[in-house]
Amino acid sequence: MDFGRVTDDRLRELQGELPPECLLREPQRLEAFAADELKLPVLPELVVEAREARQVPPLLRWAARHRIPVTARGAGTGLSGGALPVHGGVLLSLARLDRILEIDPVNQTARVEPGVINAALQEAAARRGLFYPPDPSSWESSSLGGNIAHNAGGPRCVKYGVTRDWVMQLRVVLADGSEATLGPATRKGVVGYSLRDLVVGSEGTLAVVTQALLRLLPKPEATRTLLAFFPDLDAACAMVPAFSRAGITPSAIEFMDGEAIRIVRQELPGELPEACAGLLLLECDGREAAVEQDSLAIGEACLEGGALDVLVAEGGPRREKLWEVRRSLSRVTRRAFARKISEDIAVPLDRIGEYMRGARTIGREHDLLVLGYGHLGDGNIHVNVLATVDDSPTLQRMRACVDRLLALAVELGGTISGEHGVGVAKQPWIGLELPPTLLDLQKRIKQAWDPQGILNPGKIFDWQSDRARELFGAMREGEKSN
Ligand code: LAC
Ligand code: ZN
Repeated sequence: MDFGRVTDDRLRELQGELPPECLLREPQRLEAFAADELKLPVLPELVVEAREARQVPPLLRWAARHRIPVTARGAGTGLSGGALPVHGGVLLSLARLDRILEIDPVNQTARVEPGVINAALQEAAARRGLFYPPDPSSWESSSLGGNIAHNAGGPRCVKYGVTRDWVMQLRVVLADGSEATLGPATRKGVVGYSLRDLVVGSEGTLAVVTQALLRLLPKPEATRTLLAFFPDLDAACAMVPAFSRAGITPSAIEFMDGEAIRIVRQELPGELPEACAGLLLLECDGREAAVEQDSLAIGEACLEGGALDVLVAEGGPRREKLWEVRRSLSRVTRRAFARKISEDIAVPLDRIGEYMRGARTIGREHDLLVLGYGHLGDGNIHVNVLATVDDSPTLQRMRACVDRLLALAVELGGTISGEHGVGVAKQPWIGLELPPTLLDLQKRIKQAWDPQGILNPGKIFDWQSDRARELFGAMREGEKSN
């Protein structure tokens, strides 16, 4: 791809459009925006830190004139490298567009800018007796714009659905700098293709979101957290259909396998029974009386399903601690091993046990530790490949192991990415899931939205580009984790 560079002349032209405090060029300022949670820094040529949404259209008009890449970035918590400016150009930070513009209790909506942190919306909604369900594990640090770009999931999605289900309307800037509002401000709407739904999950490759109208719900009156200890993972996995048979819809069904539990034991000494090799962290929410009944029914179902013990986490701090440990697993596993590759595959609910058994076999065949945890109720598993040594043969084995783990997900009717997106990290495997005809159709959609290919180039299916290939090679050689 033949992109334009940010030359001094072009920069001067942009300085005529945007105030000086928006334009960051000093190396240490660029470095602050160079990496996301993939931990593979790539420097942009220029950072544009938008202070107001109206600054985005002139930036994109300028970029389109010179064919300069523009990579939008929220809080930089992505795990697949979606916010890395792999072709250089401009890194457009939307982090300062962080105003909650309105919470409307009658329409049960929130109008937000993309830089609002997920937790800030949850708290603001709760103060008005309202509730925003999508809760990625990064909820305290990830931005709603990033959540929208990746169609983020999270524990509560098992009951409430993913980010896309909560987006009503998007204000976007298109690749030529023009603005559009996608979707009506209504809960229903079937006029034409849903361009809004296409933008959600498009990883910044189709448009830049400058405002979102999100759906809210009344805040559930009560929430209860339970912890169920199982002697093996199969018994824990079998609980997903068991809850369904019992007519219960928990608001979270998170799991950890035996290896993940061993790591958590170090964080929560004395809390987990020695015989426990499969753990469920369960939650139910709703009216107080219903929650009371549901938690009893969940507990009974778990005991019938062979649980060693079921604990109800009464009170705030204990519940918070349990969730904190679960949410921090991604960081904790990274700290505990020399190398880690973490995936986010998903399989149909009736194949979860089969997937986990297969994953363990694949791990053994490659002489590597493979562990799993995550969103069991969605069949969305963070299967991790971990190694205590960090040398080239180990890395090759890890890579071969990942090939098999992702292929197994697809063989079982699943997907290579349930929630983190393709970014750069999943590109080598996209062909496992999408046949050439569908890849081609997707590329033609991209072409229609962004004919010059300036919006977040090198992502999703741009694998053929030399730069992405080179970067990915460097990542696999140099990464400590993803
Ligand atoms: C989690 C992240 C890794 O669920 O998606 O912890
Ligand atoms: Zn997750």
